[in-house]
Amino acid sequence: MNPDTNTNEKTQGCFSKKAVIIYHSKRGTTKKFAKNICEFLKNKDVEGKIIAIENLNLIDLENIDYLFLGCWTSGYIIFGQKPDIYWYKFSEKLPDLQKFQVCLFTTYKIATGSMYKNLKISLKSENKDLPFLKSRNGELNIKITKQLNEFV
Ligand SMILES: Cc1cc2nc3c(=O)[nH]c(=O)nc-3n(C[C@H](O)[C@H](O)[C@H](O)COP(=O)(O)O)c2cc1C
Repeated sequence: MNPDTNTNEKTQGCFSKKAVIIYHSKRGTTKKFAKNICEFLKNKDVEGKIIAIENLNLIDLENIDYLFLGCWTSGYIIFGQKPDIYWYKFSEKLPDLQKFQVCLFTTYKIATGSMYKNLKISLKSENKDLPFLKSRNGELNIKITKQLNEFV
């Protein structure tokens, strides 16, 4: 199996819903966040598949209930935050997101600032009120857990 693609497989039984978690990570924090989201979903009876942007095959997006899209925050620390160039290139390949229930996520060090707005612009979803999870270390805190519980 590709090391950047994995699932939260159950040892027994079937999941009731399916999610794909697509991430872009430079140093691993956003990948860790994706993995933690996937583990959380398992406890909510949602099958999760984690995919790095370079490995996405559009067939992976067929028959899913939830789509998580996450990129690390690139900017000038206190302003100009946006996805990086690789994310912009990747986002052009995505299909129309209307048919998915979409949740965005990012990791950062100091401030996410304009990241949410620019992430939505990259996904042609600037007018949508999408859930946005943000973590400094890739861990799920109380706020993120609450957001996830409201989303799935
Ligand atoms: C070039 C560059 C620009 C960054 N700009 C910001 C920023 O504007 N705001 C911020 O809070 N963190 C910024 N960071 C920190 C990263 O967003 C943070 O370390 C993130 O967790 C990295 O994710 P990754 O480990 O998945 O690559 C920047 C990091 C780099 C390398």
